[in-house]
Amino acid sequence: MTPTPIIIDCDPGHDDAIALLLAVASPEVELVGVTTVAGNQTVDKTTNNALRVLELAGRTDIPVYRGADRPFLRKQDVAPHVHGESGLDGPDLPQPTTREQDEHAVEYLAREIRARDGRITLVPTGPLTNVGLLFALHPDIRPERIVLMGGAIGEGNRTPAAEFNIWADPEAAQRVFLEGLDTTMVGLDVTHRATIKDEHTERMRGAGRIGSVVAELMDFYARFHKKRYPDLDGSPMHDPVCVAHLIDPSLMTVADAVVEVDCSGGPSWGRTNVDHRNREHFGDPNAKVGVDIDGNRFAELIVERIASLN
Ligand code: BDR
Ligand code: CA
Repeated sequence: MTPTPIIIDCDPGHDDAIALLLAVASPEVELVGVTTVAGNQTVDKTTNNALRVLELAGRTDIPVYRGADRPFLRKQDVAPHVHGESGLDGPDLPQPTTREQDEHAVEYLAREIRARDGRITLVPTGPLTNVGLLFALHPDIRPERIVLMGGAIGEGNRTPAAEFNIWADPEAAQRVFLEGLDTTMVGLDVTHRATIKDEHTERMRGAGRIGSVVAELMDFYARFHKKRYPDLDGSPMHDPVCVAHLIDPSLMTVADAVVEVDCSGGPSWGRTNVDHRNREHFGDPNAKVGVDIDGNRFAELIVERIASLN
């Protein structure tokens, strides 16, 4: 089996970090590069975090490219209440011994996708600023597939209407959905059913060096979720669901849908309006949207793959 080549465009972030680790632990995918964006924290911090995570995994051979430091229109706002001041609070991860590449993330994306004639999957797990810029600056670029974490059919998490990644740069997100590419949206409707519970965390803690760092990440991340979502059994592993979907497509059910981002600037700014019921006058589907997931199998995959890294 040839692994699926992927680039993760991320804003680590606890769940982004676990998505990176899941990717390097999985023979079904080949992580060829990492690009960073401002989101959970400033781009300086998310870039530093990506480098620290790859170093933890012993994968400093995977290049990291720094991307956009602010959204198209919205004033930048980060999420220290969820991810801490560093963006990756919890474990004491050493500073990286490597640094990011000089090329800008958007130029790297264009170059890599072109060199592969589009045969690569983009996995955005942060605000879509880099990917929106990529299509604005390089209209010829057509990646084979995009599997992104963002949006919701139902309730948001940053506002009642909007999920954080789309809320953080709604105009960039709308640019991406308008491209008409093979785009899969992994939203809160599935990620809130893809949780890591305390028992999973404890199994990872007992599974060696990287497992214990992931458990410390989970300890910090769980504090916010236990308070905000007492009804959820565990903490949602948003970003790793994208990678898990590429590893094992049978975990998540998708439906064809029309997705349109609310760019009105009002209280629903950043909401993804998702029609997956073929309503009239909504147009042709522009995305596949996650509608269900086998949460138990997903959590087992995370524990197994993280435990295999040492
Ligand atoms: C998304 O927002 C961030 O806090 C997470 O890393 C994830 O990408 C969930 O809404
Ligand atoms: Ca993220």
